[in-house]
Order: sequence, then C-alpha cells, then structure tokens
Amino acid sequence: MDLEKLLSDRLAPAFAAVAGGPVDPLVRRSGRADYQSDAALALARRLGRPPRDIAGAVLAHAVLDDIGVSAEVSGPGFINLTLADRALADLVAGLAGDARLGVPSTATPQTVVVDYSAPNVAKEMHVGHLRSTVIGDAAVRLLTWLGHRVVRVNHLGDWGTPFGMLIEHLIDLGEAEAAQHLSMGDLDTFYRAARVKFDEDEAFRERSRLRVVALQGGDERTRRLWRLLVTQSERYFLTVYDLLDVGLSGDDFRGESAYNHLLAGVVDDLDRLGLLRPSGGAECVFPPGFTGRDGAPLPLIVRKSDGGYGYPATDLAALRQRVGELGATRLLYVVGLPQRQHFAMVFAVAEAAGWLHPPVRAEHLGFGSILGADGRMLRSRAGESVKLVGLLEEAVARATDLARSRNPDLDTEAAAEIGRAVGIGAIKYADLSVDRTKDYVLDWERMLALDGNTAPYLQYAYARIRSVLRRAGTAAQPDAPIVLARPDAPIVFAQPAERALAVELLGFAGVVGEVERSLELHQLAGYLHRLATAFSAFYERCPVLRASDELRESRLLLAGLTARTLRQGLDLLGIRTLARM
Ligand code: ARG
Repeated sequence: MDLEKLLSDRLAPAFAAVAGGPVDPLVRRSGRADYQSDAALALARRLGRPPRDIAGAVLAHAVLDDIGVSAEVSGPGFINLTLADRALADLVAGLAGDARLGVPSTATPQTVVVDYSAPNVAKEMHVGHLRSTVIGDAAVRLLTWLGHRVVRVNHLGDWGTPFGMLIEHLIDLGEAEAAQHLSMGDLDTFYRAARVKFDEDEAFRERSRLRVVALQGGDERTRRLWRLLVTQSERYFLTVYDLLDVGLSGDDFRGESAYNHLLAGVVDDLDRLGLLRPSGGAECVFPPGFTGRDGAPLPLIVRKSDGGYGYPATDLAALRQRVGELGATRLLYVVGLPQRQHFAMVFAVAEAAGWLHPPVRAEHLGFGSILGADGRMLRSRAGESVKLVGLLEEAVARATDLARSRNPDLDTEAAAEIGRAVGIGAIKYADLSVDRTKDYVLDWERMLALDGNTAPYLQYAYARIRSVLRRAGTAAQPDAPIVLARPDAPIVFAQPAERALAVELLGFAGVVGEVERSLELHQLAGYLHRLATAFSAFYERCPVLRASDELRESRLLLAGLTARTLRQGLDLLGIRTLARM
C-alpha cells in the first residue's frame, strides 16, 4: 500500500477541479503533519489568486474522510494531511500481515537489461568498476524483487588493438607463467609490462600489430591465447565479485567480442538508411543536436579509418541485440559519467535508425568519482589507481577490528562474519547513499561509524531489534522469520514516537516505487536511515519488554515490522543484516 500515492490520487481530482486541468498534488512527508501537499502555492501563482484560498478550494472538493484522513490549510498555503490513529493502525496491521511489506509485484513486468561492472581483460578493476558493480547489483535486486525479468550483462572489455601486445607479452612470458600472474590478480603488472615493451621496442610493436591482424583473422593459435587471457581475467573478476558479495556469475559475461559478427551488419544498415558520412577516412554518423566546443557537429565513429569497428559500433550492435533478441523494453547502462556523451550519441543514433523507440527506453545511469581524503581522485601513495581488492580487504579488516574491540569475547569466526558483512556493507552503503551523479570522499571513519547515515548504523538497529525480539521469546532461531505471539493484537499509539514510527513504516512502498522509476538508490538508503532513526527515538521513549501486555505486543509488532523493513530494504541494496553484532 502506497500511502503517498493514495493521498495523491485523492487530491488530484480536487486540484483538477480548481485548476481546470491536471495538477500534480506534490504530496510528501511533512514535519508538521503526517503528509503535506505543496501544490497550491505554484497553482496560486498561475491563477493569480491567494494560495490559501486555492488550498481551501481544493479541500472543499477533496474526499478524504472515508480513508480516515483529516486535512487543513497551513502556513502560506500548504495542505497538511493527518491520518486518524485508527486508520493508521489498520494500515500498519495490513503491512504486518503482508510478506511483501505493502510493496506489490509489478502489474506490468518488463524485460530489463542491466549492463554493469564491465571491467577490462588483463586490467585491474578500478574504483569506477566498483561503483558500477555496486549500483548495478542493487538495481538488479530491486527490479527482480518487483517482478521484472532482469538480464545481467557484464560487457567485458575483451577486444581491441591492445590484445596484440597482450598476447605477444603472454607468449614472451610463457603460458603457464602468464596464467599464474593473471589468475592471482596481478593484472596491472602484466598490462604495464606489455605496455612498456610496446612503447620501447620496435620489433615488439610490429609483432603486436601482426598479432592483432591474426586475432581478427581468426588464427587458431592466436584465438586460443586470447581465450586464455579472457578466462584467466574472468576467473579473477569472479573472486572480486565473491568478496564484494554481488550476484554476478560466469554466465553473465558477455564481452565486446560477442558482438563482432554483428558489427558489419550495423554499419551496412546505417549506410542503407542514409545515415553514414565519411569523415577523415572514417565512417561516421552525425546525430542531430551534438556539437563540439567549436560548434561543429560531432561524429559517432562507427568504422575507424583502419577499417576496425571499435567501442561505439559494439554498443550499437549490443543495443540491437538486447532489444531484438532479448526482448528488452528497458535498457540500463551503469557506467561512469565521463561516458555520458558516448551513450547519449549511441541512443540518438539508435533512435534515428529505428532500433530504439517507445515503449523501449534506454537510460544511462551515470555516476561520479570516488575521491580520496584530499578531495582528489582516489590514488595509492605511489600515485597509481587504487586496487579494488585492496580496498575491500581493508574494509573487512577494519570492520573486523572494530567488532573485536567493541566485543572482546567474540570468537574468531563470529568476528570474521561480522567484519565481512559490516565492512562490505559499509563500502556499498557509502556508495549507494549519495546521489550517484555526485563524487564522494572515501572516508573509513565515517562509513564505519555506528551512528550517522551508514550501513553499520542500520545493521546495528536491525541487530538490536532482533535482540529485543529474542528476549521477548518471539524468535528462537537467529535467522527465523519474526513471529509474534499475537500477530493480530491491536496496535496502540500511546506515545508520539510510536505514531511517527508507524507513519515511517508506511512509506516503504512509496519509496520503492519511486526508485523503480528513477533508480536513485540513495532515496531508498535515505528512507532506511529515517526509519532507523524513527526506531531509535521510539526505542528510547517506549519501553517494550517492560510494557503492559497490550502495549508490549503492539510495540513488539512495530519493532518486528521495522526489522523486516530494514532487512528487506538493505537486501535490495545488496547489504547483509546480522542477527547479532
Ligand atoms: N569496459 C568499459 C570501461 O571500463 C565499460 C563498458 C560499459 N558498457 C558498455 N556497454 N559500454 O570503461
């Protein structure tokens, strides 16, 4: 049940009657009441009437009492909306009895392709790939939970001219030796060594050039060596996904090379459609609306002057395959913002070619950078890009130490489990709790803190509730679902904090629905933080175990529902909860 939407649906016809046309009532949570609508202010400006009059006129038309909502005009022309306790209690009881916490499965399931992670063969994953992997994983989880058919695509960079030098370097090292380096994750050393030879050694450069030709020509030995590079790198990436606790598997790799056989067709079809223009020896499309700094139209190069196809043609082929073969109606690309123009141009060309049209939608979910404490791009002390695994291991180690220092009796195994859930959770949450288009600073102290908008704060709130429920004797097994002695006990609001928590609990469905559309995962994170904060206030003021019978059951129900919502919400973000920490 999405309360925000219900209120909005009730106010919309009243606004329409006053405005003489559709108006979004702009319902949101309020500090003064349960909810408020701010739409009268803008409408008043438009109609040239006092806002309070408009708000009053809207309320004269609105039907709200049958759902137990009272409304009043406040301040300059806000409409404050307050639920009667009885109505609120009924709604919360409905949530408690619903395995999906009021969030319905979608009525219109879509096939959604999520393109994320996408590291490059024989190159270390960097923090940009970390963001893509974490954001993509959360998007996959949320859309899957809502009942969409989600296809994960790991668009591995496994093709292109660098493979000439990489294969030659592999031959120089010897296959066994090279495989060893790569599977251990020593990718950067391998890549750099190849690069150095390429830059300094004329003969190596020539061998590399010939090797690219052999690779493209399908030479058998060359293909086998290339495969070796790819599989060893994939094996390594899978260990990173495992550590990061994300659902990407070996089956999800669909590298750039998988589209090779489609590239010529893409360019031919663009030619047939009259979209191709030669430019500087290359074949290009100039989608309308894209100009460089000098005002000249910008090309999307689909075939380079050396005859090769490259990154943009591959993305066009992939898009066509995702729509045509996979039947996708929503295409998501979780890739850093530096590639914003690339995707905008790919989408524009696909639209011009008729490969992308409503209802199919393509969205670039761009994201900013992770910065070091100095506010600059995250770098290691030696000035190199930071190795992702190192970052993850540090998070787990720090979280394990913190757990041990807070609770010296913890055995090694328990400390390791907590360290992993909290450390990885903290990394993910630090990423997901900020607007993804913004940069953020990697700050260990802050992201591992038990207070603030952090994973440990939410995980701790969850564990605390589990402990209360354990003590109440309602859940014997740490991971058993929460069962109350009297699930149908009436909900009582003796204190404002109980009421506030109840209203917050009702907001889950609205937030999940909004994030389904926007994929602004920080909205979900922000909601969970508000919920945990409301719980803390409740827990401070409302004794649970010492309360009298009826109050105790009601409070246990609110606490249990909070735990379920936190657990579900964190699960959608890919973050684990612990029954004890
Ligand atoms: N491999 C690319 C990189 O590391 C990202 C690929 C993103 N996906 C795509 N369909 N272009 O920058």
